Amino acid sequence: MAPAVKKLKVGILGCGAIGSRIAKSIYQELKDCCQLVGFYDCDPAKMTTLAKVLKKNNLKKRSLKELIHSCDLMVEAVNSAKTDEFIHKALSARRHVLAMSVGKLLDNSKLFATASKNRCQILIPSGAIAGLDALKAASLVHVERIILTSRKPINGFTQNDYLEKRKIYLSALTDETVLFDGSVKDAVKHFPQNINVAATLALASGMPQKIRVRIVTSPEYKINSHEIDIKGEFGHITTRAENVTCPDNPKTSWLAVLSAIQALKDFCSGARIGT
Ligand SMILES: NC(=O)c1ccc[n+]([C@@H]2O[C@H](COP(=O)([O-])OP(=O)(O)OC[C@H]3O[C@@H](n4cnc5c(N)ncnc54)[C@H](O)[C@@H]3O)[C@@H](O)[C@H]2O)c1
Repeated sequence: MAPAVKKLKVGILGCGAIGSRIAKSIYQELKDCCQLVGFYDCDPAKMTTLAKVLKKNNLKKRSLKELIHSCDLMVEAVNSAKTDEFIHKALSARRHVLAMSVGKLLDNSKLFATASKNRCQILIPSGAIAGLDALKAASLVHVERIILTSRKPINGFTQNDYLEKRKIYLSALTDETVLFDGSVKDAVKHFPQNINVAATLALASGMPQKIRVRIVTSPEYKINSHEIDIKGEFGHITTRAENVTCPDNPKTSWLAVLSAIQALKDFCSGARIGT
């Protein structure tokens, strides 16, 4: 008889759009390699909803500590000012982390140092973009420019302090409008809910200073898209991902969630194809 495969014990921090979708995937696409051992959210109602959907009331954890203790790998899918602290706690306890809030990893060498010291991995899914594999390879030689142009419908930018301060009123826009044109650091600061892709590009290339981020909207836009233009000694690359939203949550790109599921699959199999 073949020996039983040891499944990766996965704990999920954050039972919102992404955390809940990944939890469901563990019972579907990932059932052969992963076991969901628990989930935690500071909003008890979110945990209750997920527990009902999964029919697993026993997987609700009472604290982050309890969650970390139960798993081999923690999926971080929260929207908190303390996200980097949560990731650090998991790494300090020698747990691998799949990080969705990639913006929180920028300029945070402490997290990577802790991961390295404790021999655990921080998995960063490719998210809603295409071409990270080529960008990483291209980064080995001289790169002249990296331009990310993110296009999103107007309702993706509501309640944004940066736009309010600049008196950019979304309801008054009639044409395609560039809302932001600047560095990754400023993009992440002013558009934290929208710009994990810029942070992912910065980490993959190791050259945040070379990246120009453009954020564009229009009343005509119906979907999110991300275009990447890279020029350097290797040649020229352009990629464009047009993303449909997650079937069970309209505010998240489906590809971003799928990339997290695939990253878990690769981690379990030991494969790193194209990364
Ligand atoms: N890497 C990518 O491609 C990508 C794509 C989309 C979203 N994201 C990021 O992933 C994260 C999750 O996104 P989402 O769409 O699931 O968000 P969401 O708002 O649907 O869910 C976030 C959950 O975190 C919980 N939470 C907040 N603070 C917490 C705390 N202190 N402790 C425990 N739980 C807490 C909330 O209650 C909520 O249920 C966000 O940071 C988002 O920016 C990344």
